[in-house]
Amino acid sequence: MEAIKSLREPIVCVLGHVDHGKTTLLDDIRGTSIAEKEAGRITQKIGATEISYNILEREIKTAFKNIPIKIPGLLFIDTPGHVAFSNMRSLGGALADIAILVIDVNEGLKPQTIESIDILKKFKTPFIIAANKIDAVPYFVNTSNTSFANAIKMQRREYIEELDNRIYKLISDLYTYGINADRYDRISDFSKTFAIVPVSAKLKIGIADILMVLSGLAQKFLENEIRLTYEKTLGTVIEVKIEESIGITLDTILYQGMLKRGDTIAVNTSNGPARTRVKAILVNSNRGLKESEKVVAAAGIRVLITDKIPVIAGTSMIKIDENTSEDEAFKTIINESKPNIKISEHGVTVKAEALGSLEAIAYELEQASINIRSAEIGDITKHDVTDVSTLNDPLDRIIIGFNVSVLDDAVQEAASSDIGIITGNVIYSLVDDAQKWLAKRKH
Ligand code: GTP
Ligand code: MG
Repeated sequence: MEAIKSLREPIVCVLGHVDHGKTTLLDDIRGTSIAEKEAGRITQKIGATEISYNILEREIKTAFKNIPIKIPGLLFIDTPGHVAFSNMRSLGGALADIAILVIDVNEGLKPQTIESIDILKKFKTPFIIAANKIDAVPYFVNTSNTSFANAIKMQRREYIEELDNRIYKLISDLYTYGINADRYDRISDFSKTFAIVPVSAKLKIGIADILMVLSGLAQKFLENEIRLTYEKTLGTVIEVKIEESIGITLDTILYQGMLKRGDTIAVNTSNGPARTRVKAILVNSNRGLKESEKVVAAAGIRVLITDKIPVIAGTSMIKIDENTSEDEAFKTIINESKPNIKISEHGVTVKAEALGSLEAIAYELEQASINIRSAEIGDITKHDVTDVSTLNDPLDRIIIGFNVSVLDDAVQEAASSDIGIITGNVIYSLVDDAQKWLAKRKH
């Protein structure tokens, strides 16, 4: 079997509640690519880890024979969590084509699991569920570095019962959130049922199963999303670095088309859309960063640009060429930078670090029936404070900051007013705190 040339790597993101094992699972997946790195092949890239066709095939083969792999590999976004997921946009919606929702099988659904489900539903992103920490289920017979399919054969009846109880509980809890799920090896129709893959990230159990189910879903249901076309070249800037000696570099996930040295691109800056050129493209290699003449999607790349412009992370990079005019690219960039949030005459003021996180917190506030009067990107400034403190309705005099700082003069200004400022980096606690603040003020 060989990968179909017209498909690109599906982009995968990992989400889930704090401590449920996202980073450990990503490390395991990266680990599979490190083994190949020793054999001299390039695998790890900037901001994302590529699992090549060969690794994918080799890993899956350890447990599942005769599974045809048609995709050219998988590209895992290195930053886990639903906030990163929301901030990484593509023109079609979410940058990730598919997601892994990690749930501690012993703890079940938690606030950030539910936020993740909300966000995945909002973006219509397909996902699989990794039911993690199966080694912490009673009666576990120790094993490691194997598939779930193999590991379960070694377990005693008592363990299988305990695990099943937890999985049934998970299935019924997920059902209350509109997710019809089952253990992956008990599913007959993957278009109707979400797959639960039992894993132990700690003991590297179930990695082959995760890769198999992800690949299967992607090649069966995402063929249109992952069709490689060269008509337009599109990427998402995930990190901007200003390096004194070299200039400005943009860590970018290229998700469509092909980018070459010397290409002209449009990006978004704090002064609006701008045109610049690709001075160099760097990719990770086993000897560190390496220059590359051209790259084909999907890939994590570092782009050195020719102009010193204040590019905003989380926005699009669009290649300007015979298929895409500068005008069209700029219009697209302007359009995507407008938040999609319902604004009311009365309500709270929200500030967040990036467009995606602004929309994510707005969405959760909406779910909690809290209206929003204003929503903007950036730190909390003195201007925000004076603006809010002059509002007539005392219930409107509150600013919620998600992943932002309160600037010094804003702190001073707030001290002499009756406004509330709530900041933090966990959505559900911010929503909780806002509800408490509003309830208190009502009385
Ligand atoms: P945050 O980044 O803080 O949201 O957490 P995370 O979801 O990335 O979880 P992380 O991978 O850091 O794991 C949290 C804790 O759970 C660590 O102490 C891990 O060692 C432990 N852990 C992760 N996976 C497993 C597992 O499969 N079994 C057991 N027993 N512990 C695990
Ligand atoms: Mg982590």
